[in-house]
Amino acid sequence: MVIVYESKTGFTKKYAEMLADKTKLKLYHIKDISKISAEEEVVFLGWIKVGKIQGLNKLHKYNLKAVCGSGTAPCSKDNREAVIKRNNIKDIPFFYLRGGCLPVKDLKGIDKILMVIFLKILKSRKEKDEETEEVIAGLENGFNGVEEKNLEPILKWLNI
Ligand SMILES: Cc1cc2nc3c(=O)[nH]c(=O)nc-3n(C[C@H](O)[C@H](O)[C@H](O)COP(=O)(O)O)c2cc1C
Repeated sequence: MVIVYESKTGFTKKYAEMLADKTKLKLYHIKDISKISAEEEVVFLGWIKVGKIQGLNKLHKYNLKAVCGSGTAPCSKDNREAVIKRNNIKDIPFFYLRGGCLPVKDLKGIDKILMVIFLKILKSRKEKDEETEEVIAGLENGFNGVEEKNLEPILKWLNI
């Protein structure tokens, strides 16, 4: 079994490295996917962009055994189920990993535009609960939700 990951700003990479360290499994960036044989079992970690796990579409021809998605949304049952549905994950386990984000001012290109729109939508809500306020502050100032303990469910699944 090997670990493959896709990461834009480094939070998912950090999880992939921690997982490789704990499991001693070989780690590949998605750009090196062609080095892996079609039979090799793969655990994939990708960052979530507007609900879609980035890089997952490159795994079709591979022996995918589990998927992890890293996003800034809080870890809730509803959020997990929405990601599973949106990414059409069937018959294999999905693990949600709380990632992190750079301050919106440090994002670039389309990612920045999308995030500015998302922030505007959140800020325009008349009634903002504590969680929404927290998400707004996190996106504006950046935050790092990467914690080793978040890998526990996948380590348990891997029997480690
Ligand atoms: C344009 C954009 C869209 C995003 N969409 C989502 C999303 O739909 N759900 C979510 O939980 N996080 C979303 N995020 C947050 C990223 O998934 C999160 O920051 C992730 O941990 C980044 O991983 P990376 O550092 O490996 O690239 C989005 C971030 C950007 C920039």
